[in-house]
Amino acid sequence: SNTRRLVVVSNRLPAALALEDGRWQVRAGAGGLVSALAPVLRDRGGMWIGWSGTSDPEVDAAGLLADFSSEAGYDLYTVPLTADEVAGYYFGFSNEIIWPLFHDLQTRCRFDPDYWRMYLDVNFKFAEVVARKTTPDDYVWIHDYHLMHQALFLKSMGVKRRTGFFLHIPFPPPDIFMKLPWRWKLIQALTEFDLVGFQTLQDRRNFTGCLHRLMPEARVSGRGAVVSVDMGSRTLRVGAFPISIDFNQFADMARRREVADRAFGIKEALRHRKIILGVDRLDYTKGIPERIRSIKTLLRRYPDLKGQVNFVQIAVPSREEVDEYRELRTEIEQLVGRVNGEFSFPGWVPVHYHYRSFPPDELAAYYLAADTALVTPLRDGMNLVAKEYCACNVDEDGALILSEFAGAAAQLQKNAYLVNPYDLEGVAKALHRVFHWDKEERRRHMSRLRDQIRRNNIYWWVDSFLQAGIAKNLGDFPAA
Ligand code: UDP
Ligand code: G6P
Repeated sequence: SNTRRLVVVSNRLPAALALEDGRWQVRAGAGGLVSALAPVLRDRGGMWIGWSGTSDPEVDAAGLLADFSSEAGYDLYTVPLTADEVAGYYFGFSNEIIWPLFHDLQTRCRFDPDYWRMYLDVNFKFAEVVARKTTPDDYVWIHDYHLMHQALFLKSMGVKRRTGFFLHIPFPPPDIFMKLPWRWKLIQALTEFDLVGFQTLQDRRNFTGCLHRLMPEARVSGRGAVVSVDMGSRTLRVGAFPISIDFNQFADMARRREVADRAFGIKEALRHRKIILGVDRLDYTKGIPERIRSIKTLLRRYPDLKGQVNFVQIAVPSREEVDEYRELRTEIEQLVGRVNGEFSFPGWVPVHYHYRSFPPDELAAYYLAADTALVTPLRDGMNLVAKEYCACNVDEDGALILSEFAGAAAQLQKNAYLVNPYDLEGVAKALHRVFHWDKEERRRHMSRLRDQIRRNNIYWWVDSFLQAGIAKNLGDFPAA
């Protein structure tokens, strides 16, 4: 019924406003959170609350997003943020502290206390909007590290809601989490949700490990995917729910004539050489420089591959206001230049680098055209690109090389070729090995990968989270 709605709250909305050639445009939001949740809301309806993507007070965000909202079939509400708020809460606390720390890259953190204050202010602002737009019947589902204080602030306002939280990025082990100056306040805020979900069992264990150190009075009981934590006056549930994709949507797209034609066009332009594909936001967690170095290692170790392979890297612009991201872009572009400079000859350039975002059907064509996806993040919550590649590989003749540090490895380890992204020779060897898999071997691995992702798709994910979140007692929990 429409009195009980699913309300998604996240920093990023499925559509964001961007200034292009002096005019405000509605653009699809990039990244895994939006890719995963957009089909869920399209399927179930409800409401999505998030930031508009701009801090310009003159812009009529609601007006601009109205068409998107009515077409998508759910309500969109924007939380307006000032430039200072965006700087402190989004670029600062979220992306210069939590993002690097939770990806085990503590040396990239800037522990600025002003960031923390702004993070709390903006979280309070979000909570006020959530309180105003929802009713006690709604299920309020908060997403990701930008909004970890929602349950705490809703309660402090005396607003009673059923709340769930899902963390899309990894949760670090205690030794790393303990470096956060605001560690106790943050973990305490997380325990105020009714249900906290993580991508993998390891993330969940890291969280309960931190709880154990920081709140020793909390008692964890149960086993399996969802456990409960006795907080004295109330019970918190904590679980692992590996996020996924709308498998059929990708597979159907890859079967479309125009997409197949375009994939053929890509292969032809690259003269039917083997295509190795990388697709990522340009982010230092994705291991792009290491990946380019492993291509260099490949060409040095196996000189017979010169002129036989192409590495195509799609790098989607991301968080460009943060210095680390700008420096990374320069580093990547220098590396691409160096590898191409060392190996190219007339008619062959080994690395094809694209720094821009791609529409879904064009991306699907690249997935379809690639012989091998090289997905080698240094650390990643899940990595949906790995799953999208398999879903689009309708001919089942591709291969997936996957970092053991991506959350997806926990599910796909049996049929992906797992690598350590820091081990350049290991990655080069993996590429060489999968090139020599015969047709049957490729088909066997790929069809199993696809079966797994088809079964554990985004609708399976949403059902398992909501069952755990809305179920009244432990007996109603889904089996592990
Ligand atoms: N993607 C995108 N625009 C592009 C290329 C890719 O939005 O130009 C999508 C891609 O299809 C995938 C998501 O971005 O769904 C990346 O998700 P992933 O989990 O791999 O990494 P994240 O960016 O969330 O860290
Ligand atoms: C990751 C995060 C998301 C985020 C996305 C894109 O997937 O988990 O919360 O939306 O990256 O990053 P951005 O900073 O552009 O939202």
